[in-house]
Amino acid sequence: MKIVIPGGTGQVGTVLNRALSGAGHEVVVLTRRPTRAGELHWDGETQGPWATAIDGSDIVINLAGRSVSCRYTAPNLRAMMDSRVHSTRVVGEAIGAAARPPRVWLQMSTATVYAHRSDAPHDEATGVIGGGEPDVPDYWAYSVEIAKEWERAQEEADTPHTRKVALRSAMVMSPDRGGVFDVLLRLTRLGLGGPVAGGGQYVSWIHERDFVRAVEFLVDRPDLAGPVNLAAPEPLPHRAFMRALRSASGVPVGLPATRWMAEIGAFALRSDTELLLKSRRVVPGRLLDEGFAFEYARWPEAADDLVRRVRQRRLPQAQSV
Ligand SMILES: NC(=O)c1ccc[n+]([C@@H]2O[C@H](COP(=O)([O-])OP(=O)(O)OC[C@H]3O[C@@H](n4cnc5c(N)ncnc54)[C@H](OP(=O)(O)O)[C@@H]3O)[C@@H](O)[C@H]2O)c1
Repeated sequence: MKIVIPGGTGQVGTVLNRALSGAGHEVVVLTRRPTRAGELHWDGETQGPWATAIDGSDIVINLAGRSVSCRYTAPNLRAMMDSRVHSTRVVGEAIGAAARPPRVWLQMSTATVYAHRSDAPHDEATGVIGGGEPDVPDYWAYSVEIAKEWERAQEEADTPHTRKVALRSAMVMSPDRGGVFDVLLRLTRLGLGGPVAGGGQYVSWIHERDFVRAVEFLVDRPDLAGPVNLAAPEPLPHRAFMRALRSASGVPVGLPATRWMAEIGAFALRSDTELLLKSRRVVPGRLLDEGFAFEYARWPEAADDLVRRVRQRRLPQAQSV
């Protein structure tokens, strides 16, 4: 198949490109700075010659968006919103104008669309969309607004011959350098892998292998459209999540951090505490109902696998020293 991945140069794009190219598909990545074979230039805002790659493709998986790992200042929040909404809009226009449109358009969204909540899990049918929670910082509502506008841009696109699916994904865990797992593992090895702010907030996650398998599952199921949660079926409190990561990496202790320590750490890492403190208890209701079986349903096994593969990644470097 020919698969076009706008915004496919980042962490999730790397995971998908590796798996889909490895399976023998032709993958075209749309990027603002093409450097390799298989990459095409676009600006994420306007139509251009890139649209010819979409015409005649089988699948489009749009991942484009300004990284959320940043300080949530007003300009950054605006860039997070605009990059997602504008890129989704132009992808939709290109699909709508194609003589041979793709049969499916998978549009990245996020599990962050759901409310901060620990008492019950969110599935697609009964989950509560966030934005109205009491006792959370006001600006958290803006991340939910971004997710809603992002999904709306896809819903509103006029693509009558292309099935549309919104991927409400949790954190995708892969061993790649610079990915979220890599960052968590580094902090853990520094002894900083303890609970933050009590650790009662839930962490939703999905192993890269299941992320790719879920994408393939959704491509192969012409009856499935609309929002789908991509998250392992067992989200767990941050405290237990970090304990399992410490155990997998052989680090006995992790310094607990208060909310204020987290604020300082997030500031130093140019990131935002919402990513750590918001309780994301998201479960894959539709995937399970439709018969999808996770290879990594539980975090301890997933963490063991990822730590082992990070070690393998480092091995050739160690041997060449
Ligand atoms: N990583 C996760 O666990 C996770 C979980 C849920 C949802 N998501 C969402 O899934 C998407 C992909 O995640 P990721 O971790 O791979 O993100 P990433 O590493 O930040 O990559 C996103 C890509 O978007 C492109 N981009 C950035 N700013 C842009 C702009 N202003 N206009 C057009 N394109 C822009 C960049 O490509 P170029 O610089 O090459 O143009 C970048 O490689 C993101 O939208 C993210 O919010 C990620």
